Amino acid sequence: MAYDLIVIGSGPGGYVCAIKAAQLGLKVAVVEKRATYGGTCLNVGCIPSKALLHASEMFDHVAHGMDALGVEVSAPKLNLAKMMAHKDATVKANVDGVAFLFKKNKIDTFQGTGKIVSAGKVAVTNDAGEVQELETKNIVIATGSDVAGIPGVKVDIDEKVIISSTGGIALDKVPVSMIVVGGGVIGLELGSVWARLGAKVTVVEYLDSILGGMDGEVSKQFQRMLAKQGIEFKLGAKVTGVVKAGAGAKVTFEPVKGGEATTVDADVVLIATGRKPYTEGLGLEAAGVALDKAGRVEIDGHYRTNVAGIYAIGDVVKGPMLAHKAEDEGVALAEILAGQAGHVNYDVIPSVVYTQPEVASVGKTEEELKAAGVAYKVGKFPFTANGRARAMLATDGFVKILSDKETDRVLGGHIVGFGAGEMIHEIAVLMEFGGSAEDLGRTCHAHPTMSEAVKEAALAAFFKPIHM
Ligand code: NAI
Repeated sequence: MAYDLIVIGSGPGGYVCAIKAAQLGLKVAVVEKRATYGGTCLNVGCIPSKALLHASEMFDHVAHGMDALGVEVSAPKLNLAKMMAHKDATVKANVDGVAFLFKKNKIDTFQGTGKIVSAGKVAVTNDAGEVQELETKNIVIATGSDVAGIPGVKVDIDEKVIISSTGGIALDKVPVSMIVVGGGVIGLELGSVWARLGAKVTVVEYLDSILGGMDGEVSKQFQRMLAKQGIEFKLGAKVTGVVKAGAGAKVTFEPVKGGEATTVDADVVLIATGRKPYTEGLGLEAAGVALDKAGRVEIDGHYRTNVAGIYAIGDVVKGPMLAHKAEDEGVALAEILAGQAGHVNYDVIPSVVYTQPEVASVGKTEEELKAAGVAYKVGKFPFTANGRARAMLATDGFVKILSDKETDRVLGGHIVGFGAGEMIHEIAVLMEFGGSAEDLGRTCHAHPTMSEAVKEAALAAFFKPIHM
């Protein structure tokens, strides 16, 4: 039998595309090589890391955050195996949830590695080496991404001593020292987990700031907060070598501006220098599917590759490597394939770093507005002036709203603070509707909430805040 749609890969891009297409009446199959669905995000990425971020945050909070609230507790004891079991149970509930949704939506699933034979034909090779050929009107490549490694440096990742994010969520003991190569999202999230559990964490970052691409002010203040938590930073430092030595490893880095190299020892080294599109074994070359210069599957505005009937979404194509961006592309593509008008607004894709405090942003940064020559206004409000934040001893951080100087339309929002990842969405909704700082400032916000700081920052952008 022929399908309307075969999706290769069941991560957030692929599984959401499959479900949406099935809801719209298409006959859908999914090909997945892992034993469970959900891709990197559910199996070894977003979901397990959030379980460990939450658990380690609770551990740290009980150790350091209770006394000031008048709650006297004895020092917490770490049961790492149980923490990992919580993480595994979280993953299982989520991947099982995807399997349930596939069944509910009558989506056929094929376990094995999918290869595009030609437009309309996918070969699936299962673990036993048996090959099955499937026919379909359309193929969606949603194969995601893989660890990129350090550009120009040969590193032997064993996932025990020299680890990627996959090993970073599965260590069986807390290392005494950990070097994190790369001060991006993975490095700071997993670095936070192990620092809270007791490791001495040093982040070595090539750029002069952490979270490259984030608003400069956000990045600077956030780095100070992490430094207060005991994370050490070596910025403007290029890692040129990572080798195993005895039971641990040695990391060599040199100043980007030039100068002498330094070599340091660590029990564990986390390689967090980015991810690359995953296209291996897909048969793209034989099928004639073109890649762009960065090795991503090239697509047009409707997710079409250069071969008719073959589409691609998610980390394997251009744009930020974020699960929710992939999901929205999956929905848009399913709608397009069902004859509807699917669309993603790439100007309003929130991004969250799930550290403590969290960092969340949507839209443009000040640096981007300056570079584009846009005249803008800035409204800022610190959580130190927010009643709820004071009551919770969660005063670290601030909200920053950027709006168009002429029209007052909100162009970007940036939040560092407890719950930033939840609060960012009111700015996203506002931006989606083309709202102004005045609109946000005049929207009644419940008191006392952290979200009032968002309202105050909007008031600050449009006129003046009340509470500052
Ligand atoms: P990243 O691209 O965010 O950061 C990598 C960092 O490594 C950069 O700052 C880069 O300058 C640095 N670097 C590269 N070569 C280096 C060298 N030789 N020496 C020192 N530093 C070097 O990549 P990351 O953190 O690995 O994350 C990969 C992808 O996964 C990203 O696209 C990220 O957005 C996504 N992700 C998103 C999460 C979230 O939204 N919460 C969580 C985890 C990952």
